[in-house]
Amino acid sequence: MLSHDVVVVGAGLAGMRAAIAAHEAGVDVALVTKVHPVRSHSGAAQGGINAALGNQTDDHPDNHTFDTVKGADYIGDQDAIEILCNNAPGEIIQLEHWGAVFSRHESTGKIAQRPFGGAGFPRTCFAADLTGLVILHTLYTVCVKYDIPTYEEWFVTDLVQDDHGGCAGVVAYDMVHGTIQTIGAKAVVLATGGAGRVYRPSTNSHSSTGDGMGLALKAGVPLKDMEFMQFHPTTLNPSGVLVTEGARGEGGYLLNSEGERFMSKYAPNKLELASRDVVSRSEATEILEGRGINGSVLLDLRHLGREKIMERLPQIRELAMAFAGVDPIEAPIPIRPGAHYHMGGVHVDSWGAAPHMQGLFAAGECACVSVHGANRLGGNSLLEAVVFGARTGGAAARYASQIFNGRGIQATPEAARRTEEEIRIMLERTKGPKQHELRDVLSDTMQEKVGVFRTESDLREAQATVEDLREQFKGVVVTDKGRTFNQSLIHTIETGYLLDLAATMVAGAVERTESRGAHSRTDHPERDDENWMKHTLSYLEDDQIRLDYSEVTVTKFQPQVRSY
Ligand code: FUM
Repeated sequence: MLSHDVVVVGAGLAGMRAAIAAHEAGVDVALVTKVHPVRSHSGAAQGGINAALGNQTDDHPDNHTFDTVKGADYIGDQDAIEILCNNAPGEIIQLEHWGAVFSRHESTGKIAQRPFGGAGFPRTCFAADLTGLVILHTLYTVCVKYDIPTYEEWFVTDLVQDDHGGCAGVVAYDMVHGTIQTIGAKAVVLATGGAGRVYRPSTNSHSSTGDGMGLALKAGVPLKDMEFMQFHPTTLNPSGVLVTEGARGEGGYLLNSEGERFMSKYAPNKLELASRDVVSRSEATEILEGRGINGSVLLDLRHLGREKIMERLPQIRELAMAFAGVDPIEAPIPIRPGAHYHMGGVHVDSWGAAPHMQGLFAAGECACVSVHGANRLGGNSLLEAVVFGARTGGAAARYASQIFNGRGIQATPEAARRTEEEIRIMLERTKGPKQHELRDVLSDTMQEKVGVFRTESDLREAQATVEDLREQFKGVVVTDKGRTFNQSLIHTIETGYLLDLAATMVAGAVERTESRGAHSRTDHPERDDENWMKHTLSYLEDDQIRLDYSEVTVTKFQPQVRSY
């Protein structure tokens, strides 16, 4: 039987950074991933990673902390935010020493830093507009150097629990051989990324289906703050392909159909570099009030000139030409807000440990520590992935070293029975809805009813639709009846996760009768600190979502009016 001290599920930035930290702590760690590591969605991150290096200014981690607390609309946990910002410079230097080729400042030769939204200083380190890809490949080389065993194209379907309810490993579908396998572990780290595919369009890859969150929820572990989904201000219409915030950081600006630089009305100080929730709402307002162009506004980069665009934003130029038929050197790019990042995730403490299940950890977008609160700042997600990936991998390794011998490696093939049975039933069924039919309705409903602006009636309609889809899912049919590389089976299981996660998102959003960060209720337009300065916890019990709430940690910064 397969077993390791620590098993990390997901091999994007958070997963590989966790595995490296666990390896360096001296335990036997393995990665399990449904796609090859360098195809992980982290590779799609473009604009950069924040750290108060102070290379061009006298920036300091305390400034980074304040900007993040404010960006989060005051429900990020400030102890965790301090950890994020204080550890940022060290992580960047570590990545550089491992070989990450960051863009350099022309005269000093130091790592260059560009301005990003909601930040008081130019603090975002970058590798042109391919930052995620560069870091992903860097971490992969370290995993290869350390010879960390990697189960590639293994799709985790269940968490194994021991007699005391602790996490003792995972069950996974080995796609190549078409078999169900159990991998025992003393500690499991979930690092499977976000669930952006609950919407369409989305900047997320097709693999971003919230698997880790879905696994945790199914195992009785609560998810935190699921109502907070970030809409990135600049995505291509209609594909949803990301156009990095780095384009505005380099000086790009937004125009409406009247040629007006409209951000001056909404964020007179920071303009296009207000935080993402503010810019997305401003664009949506312009479009709703008739000053859009075919459902978009325009991102103008022409004044930056060919040389700067080719040096700093080469991928954006290619994407705009391929997906919008526009060369940004010659013409503005039509863009609109699009689903991008989940602030919510598996409820964990600042060591990445899930308090509701011994031996279970989570890191990266899959987790909610919470450092992003109600709205994440651009450049803080790659940072969270490496800072909390390292911290969580180290904590999981310590946990695995300390527990008594035998725990975790007791996971037997018996544990795979539930998955075997579920898959057998799905494959034998011949009549019923197909996963893609359910997923289309789900993602359209979320886009229309749980978007940038929300109302109780829209949310309740979405809730009814999601419940109906969850009911239909019980009779879902898998069209491919084979065992090897059964993508139809995988997409079906993923759709099940997306449906459960949508149920938590809508439930949290209906109840949160205020507007905070990315959760903007037009029927409750004000932030309500008296009643809603709290995290939402969602549990799955008897197939229903139950909500509970927990306290927000405030250290240095009391809530203030938030303006940019
Ligand atoms: O706009 C971007 O490049 C995305 C960055 C982020 O989400 O942190």
